[in-house]
Amino acid sequence: MEIALSKKFLCTCTVHRSLVISVGIMVLFLIRASWFLVSSSSSMFPLSVKVAEDIQNTENITKIDSGNHSAGQLILDARDLPFAESERSRKAEAGEDSNSLENSTKTVTGRLDSSISIWAPASHNTSSHSSNSGKTKFGDCDLYHGKWIYDPTGPLYTNITCPILTQSQNCQGNGRPDKDYENWRWKPDQCHIPRFDARKFLEMMKGKILAFIGDSVARNQMESMLCILWQVEAPRMRGNRRMHRWHFRSTSTTIVRIWSSWLVHKSAPRGIVKVHLDKPDEAFFEFLPMFDVVVLSSGHWFSKGSIYLLLNGEKDQRNHINNMNAYNIAMETVLTAIATHPNYTGIAILRTYSPDHYKGGSCSKNLEPAKKLAGNGHTVMMRDKQVESFKEAVKKVSNGSKLRLMDITEVFGYRHDGHPGRYRSPEAKNLVGRDLGGRTQSEDCLHWCMPGPVDIWNEILFEILKRELQGEQVKV
Ligand SMILES: *[C@@H]1O[C@H](CO)[C@@H](O)[C@H](O)[C@H]1NC(C)=O
Ligand SMILES: *[C@@H]1O[C@H](CO)[C@@H](O)[C@H](O)[C@H]1NC(C)=O
Ligand SMILES: *[C@@H]1O[C@H](CO)[C@@H](O)[C@H](O)[C@H]1NC(C)=O
Ligand SMILES: *[C@@H]1O[C@H](CO)[C@@H](O)[C@H](O)[C@H]1NC(C)=O
Ligand SMILES: *[C@@H]1O[C@H](CO)[C@@H](O)[C@H](O)[C@H]1NC(C)=O
Ligand SMILES: *[C@@H]1O[C@H](CO)[C@@H](O)[C@H](O)[C@H]1NC(C)=O
Ligand SMILES: *[C@@H]1O[C@H](CO)[C@@H](O)[C@H](O)[C@H]1NC(C)=O
Repeated sequence: MEIALSKKFLCTCTVHRSLVISVGIMVLFLIRASWFLVSSSSSMFPLSVKVAEDIQNTENITKIDSGNHSAGQLILDARDLPFAESERSRKAEAGEDSNSLENSTKTVTGRLDSSISIWAPASHNTSSHSSNSGKTKFGDCDLYHGKWIYDPTGPLYTNITCPILTQSQNCQGNGRPDKDYENWRWKPDQCHIPRFDARKFLEMMKGKILAFIGDSVARNQMESMLCILWQVEAPRMRGNRRMHRWHFRSTSTTIVRIWSSWLVHKSAPRGIVKVHLDKPDEAFFEFLPMFDVVVLSSGHWFSKGSIYLLLNGEKDQRNHINNMNAYNIAMETVLTAIATHPNYTGIAILRTYSPDHYKGGSCSKNLEPAKKLAGNGHTVMMRDKQVESFKEAVKKVSNGSKLRLMDITEVFGYRHDGHPGRYRSPEAKNLVGRDLGGRTQSEDCLHWCMPGPVDIWNEILFEILKRELQGEQVKV
């Protein structure tokens, strides 16, 4: 199978039409059935399927999970919906919104200027936080076993000092009354993760390009990184919709984001999304050799249930690919392709599945980390599939690339307090659960508040990169 893989990428074999159509009909039926089921069962679990009129609305959309996901509802992001995407590119081609990026950058700058006097430059006493090396040699520390501790020092930025917060993650700005969720730090048993030093990070990443690739949760992490770095330098926005790029002049460091819901190729003829499990998504794969570091993540879009295709696979397999298997195959495809890419010599970090915390459709009552992990079989399985694929891919690394795992699933399983919940928009807090004439507001227990737990992902990322990029110096 491994050997066949590279050939598969070139293969343009046609897919059996009749099969696709019948699978399509089945999926449509399932989606309708589940929609009906849920909409008739109760208004406690509202589902709203947005159609074309909402394409412009990039902040909120509720998607059905037609698969096995316990949540019953997942809030994904309209920016990533295939129809939204095709609509956007149509508009972009027509020149209709070619200005919107520039315009939004201007707004950003305005807000930054007005808030800059409020912002005190990073002056925290870092020595008290810094890598008190302790007994353990730095590089040996297991980052993923430890505990959450309360740290009143406060977050690395606020909704006021970070001008690029996506509104749906701006929990304070959306009226969330409590704030303690901003103050918990992850403390591995064997070492201490220092508070993120943005200046040091930029120095370490001098001349380098760091790319975040994935869905809206990847965007969540990328924006957290930008907010943190923004505290020492306002970057310039470059790039376009396909590749968002932010450039830090002082060190010539670039932070990139590329949207890829599944990380594998997808097509959407006549509005029906087909996910090609054995071909990496060209949206990022074409650019891979440019990047020094890529942080990959995915998963939640697989709960949607799509039509999964193997271009060169066994014909009779196609009927049997469920979401979980599809995820497994897709992960293996992507990681193997990176591991064996002839021209990629960078570091590829797989961030494991981000846990969500829908409990009865809600997570807004959680004000501090959970004392105990609530078992979530789906989350555990998704993470295990990733790790499985990761281990397979590592065996195949043939060129200069390095694969690293950032295994955050369990650690963040405790953070049921870190999601926007009902504070996902300024209006939503009063409207959650209410039926607004066919439209319903539901909670977001999937993405993470900013500032909030997601910032710790970047502190962990910094630790991983230190080991790779300056391992020797740090160990002294
Ligand atoms: C859904 O979950 C049940 C039990 O957890 C499992 O037996 C079944 O195979 C799953 N179905 C799919 C499509 O994943
Ligand atoms: C961007 O700004 C230009 C000129 O200021 C304006 O004509 C255009 O409509 C704006 N575009 C958007 C999407 O706001
Ligand atoms: C930083 O904090 C530590 C302990 O809290 C203290 O000993 C040290 O003097 C402080 N350093 C500065 C520069 O304030
Ligand atoms: C920031 O959060 C505060 C509450 O902590 C809120 O009053 C303010 O309106 C928010 N500002 C922005 C720009 O979101
Ligand atoms: C990658 O590997 C191929 C053969 O496996 C080799 O020809 C090529 O030079 C290698 N490229 C790099 C950058 O090491
Ligand atoms: C790798 O680089 C070589 C030389 O620049 C180029 O010809 C080749 O197409 C590249 N391969 C891939 C898979 O990008
Ligand atoms: C989406 O959110 C915006 C505010 O962010 C709100 O004005 C709008 O009504 C919401 N749309 C729907 C359909 O919920």
